[in-house]
Amino acid sequence: TDNTEELKAKIRALKEKLSVTVVAHFYQRDEVFDMGDITGDSLELAKKTMADDSEFVVFCGVGFMGQSVKVLSPEKRVVMPKIACCAMARMIDSLYFDESVKKMEEAGIAETNILPITYINSNADVKAKVGKMGGMVCTSSNAKTIIETALEEGKKILFVPDRCLGQNIANMMGLKSAVIGIDDNLSDADIICYDGFCSVHQLFSVDDIRFYRKKYPGILIAVHPECDPAIVAEADFTGSTSQLIKYIAELPEDQKVAVGTEFNLVNRLRPKNTYVLSSTKPECPTMNETTLEDLYNTLKSIDEGEPINEIHVDEETRKWAKVALDRMMAL
Ligand code: 13P
Ligand code: SF4
Repeated sequence: TDNTEELKAKIRALKEKLSVTVVAHFYQRDEVFDMGDITGDSLELAKKTMADDSEFVVFCGVGFMGQSVKVLSPEKRVVMPKIACCAMARMIDSLYFDESVKKMEEAGIAETNILPITYINSNADVKAKVGKMGGMVCTSSNAKTIIETALEEGKKILFVPDRCLGQNIANMMGLKSAVIGIDDNLSDADIICYDGFCSVHQLFSVDDIRFYRKKYPGILIAVHPECDPAIVAEADFTGSTSQLIKYIAELPEDQKVAVGTEFNLVNRLRPKNTYVLSSTKPECPTMNETTLEDLYNTLKSIDEGEPINEIHVDEETRKWAKVALDRMMAL
């Protein structure tokens, strides 16, 4: 619309004038995504933003992502047009983390024999707990490598907060997993998962897969590892956001594919033969909170010398969260 184009022009003008880098995750609304100087999945954004040298990072994504930039590069000023908290990240805090460790101890696993790994979709206080206990962060792109490395220490892995990612990696590696509060015999498992999940990726069902396979014989099913293990078991391909993009880009043009991940990303993938794997639109409510208007208002606040929604992390939390993130970056 005219209004959208007008706002985009005003945003471009402010970007020219100020020392800012606009960062946008793949799940952002199209019009916000278009304004990104740096775009990518969560791992790519963390890496590319670290190497950037403008004074302000304007992060269009969810809270833990902006926080991770601040943890890794405290000299940068990080602002977020909307501080929206990923629903999965909100499922665990440092107290629930401590309780999970306690439940493992009650199951006969000594604390010294626990190595925690947190999915990057968690807040800095949880990352700090993990860092202090000698553990590290992973993303959906590198989870397998991180877990392989962690297992070399011969310890039990406490995987938080995403139950599905933990179980899917365990299945992929032929390891045993168990979920705290659901499964008995935690001590028999190699990977012990916290019971968190992504509500968006829970929308995909085995019925959806069967529906598409019947309707379009030969169709491929590609899903994100935040989907339930029952979905992953029936899919042709499972991968992180960037891995899905690459997989789909390499398919022949006439190959149909149904994709089980966030709507904004799927909608942008390919003009034809690409389907959303659910009857309900799988939009991430928190990713969608950021609007073009929010982005404009944030840039304007920087221009006026009073930046809104600046991210701060206290030094003790930052220090230990960085330890956990650095261990991932080193791998
Ligand atoms: P990626 O690590 O694939 O960017 O995923 C982030 C996310 O929130 C997925 O739901
Ligand atoms: Fe969080 Fe799920 Fe949204 Fe990703 S899609 S940001 S995991 S709520």
